[in-house]
This record gives sequence, structure tokens and C-alpha cells, in this order.
Amino acid sequence: MRLIAANWKMNKTVSETREYIEKFLRLIGEPEDREVLICPPFTSLYVAGEMLKGSSVKLGAQNCHFERKGAFTGEVSLPMLREVGCSYVIVGHSERRHIFGETDDLINRKLVACLEEGIRPILCVGEKLEDREAGMTFKVVETQIRIALSGIEHLTDRIDIAYEPVWAIGTGVPASPEDAVEVHRFIREILRDINPKAEGGTRILYGGSVNPENAPEFMKHQEIEGLLVGGASLDPESFAKIVNSF
Ligand code: PGA
Repeated sequence: MRLIAANWKMNKTVSETREYIEKFLRLIGEPEDREVLICPPFTSLYVAGEMLKGSSVKLGAQNCHFERKGAFTGEVSLPMLREVGCSYVIVGHSERRHIFGETDDLINRKLVACLEEGIRPILCVGEKLEDREAGMTFKVVETQIRIALSGIEHLTDRIDIAYEPVWAIGTGVPASPEDAVEVHRFIREILRDINPKAEGGTRILYGGSVNPENAPEFMKHQEIEGLLVGGASLDPESFAKIVNSF
């Protein structure tokens, strides 16, 4: 099933979350042929989890720590996320990499921890503008994936991957669906190489300036198995349109 995910980033208080989810659930009904995921900030997870109980919409976090508990001021662990109802975590988002200095090795530790906890990670990868201009897109994406998956190569089917070119995130300039498809095919090849026994299982999503108008253009392509939506997911009507756009 294709996955349409909302990444709210650092947006929405608890009361705004309540208002959004109430509206959103009314707008989308119970879609059966696609999976829908909302990733609010940590403070909204509990209330969102309570409201989503009994619906088919899943709950995810935007980040996690790799240790289960301990002296890690300001961090949130996977058991904590699980108890509020998270079944997904976004790992290695480009804002985590480039604003907060997350490395491929740290991302790998987080993925390992997610798999141990039974929470499905969405690994984000993608090149910066200078990488693309230097013809390094494939190299950068391949390195990110290989390091992130090291030691868990046999478990790739428990992970989804979001291809998010950094230059397309929050800029209003998405990748063309054709460029995205090219990278998605390349990622699929790497996955086959890493885990030849896996029978699919990993969905490859596109993210970066997706909106209700361009979503159907991406979803026309079978290689694009879902979307990770930032800005356009902040309004329930706009996100519901994206969910129902294909
Ligand atoms: P955007 O963000 O849709 O606002 O470009 C996507 C993301 O960062 O996941």
C-alpha cells in the first residue's frame, strides 16, 4: 500500500493539533487502499494518538534517540514514542542532518534502535543543490543509504525510504517527477544489491514541495510509492486533497 505522510516539523500546539485532527478525520473518511500517517511534534503526539485511536490514520514521530532511556537531556526514546501510539519515526530528515549535525553513523544507530523496538523508520536521503550540480546525486544518496543500513542489511523490508532532494524542501520547487523516478529506480537497485532476498517491502517515497496540484503527477509513476509532505500538510484540507489525489 502506498504511504502518504505528513511531516508537521515544528508546527502546531496541542489545541491546534486537536482542531486539525478533528477536521482531517472528517475530510478523509476511511481510505482502504493507501496508508496515511501524521507526524506531529513531540508535545502533540499524546493528544494526536488518543484522537487517532480507532481510525486507520497512523501516528509517527519526527525523530528519536537510539537509547531506550537514560541521561540524555532533551531527548525522547522509542519506548516513549511507542506508548503514545507511534508506529513510525522519521529518521535522518535533511533538517536533522544539516541544522542539527546528524551524521550517517548516528542515523544508522537510530535505525537499528527502531528495528529493535518494532517501530518502522522512514529513512530520509537526498542530495544538496551543490551535489546535484556536481553530478554527485547518485553517489551521495548511495553513501547515505549504505551507511544508514549497515548491519541491518537483512532487514531492509522493515524500513521505508524517503527521497527528498534538499533543494526541493520548503522551496516551492519540487523535483520533476521524471528526475524523482530516476533516483527512485536507483535506490531500488541499491536495495536489491544490499538485500537480494527481500521481496520488496521497502516503500520509496518522494518529498520536497509536494502540494495538492503536483501530487497526482508524482503518484502517476509506480516507482513513487508514497509522499512525505511538509508545508502542504499543515492545512487539513490541503493534506486531505493530497491523500485523495490519486
Ligand atoms: P516540504 O517539506 O513539503 O515543505 O517541502 C518536505 C519535508 O521536509 O519532509
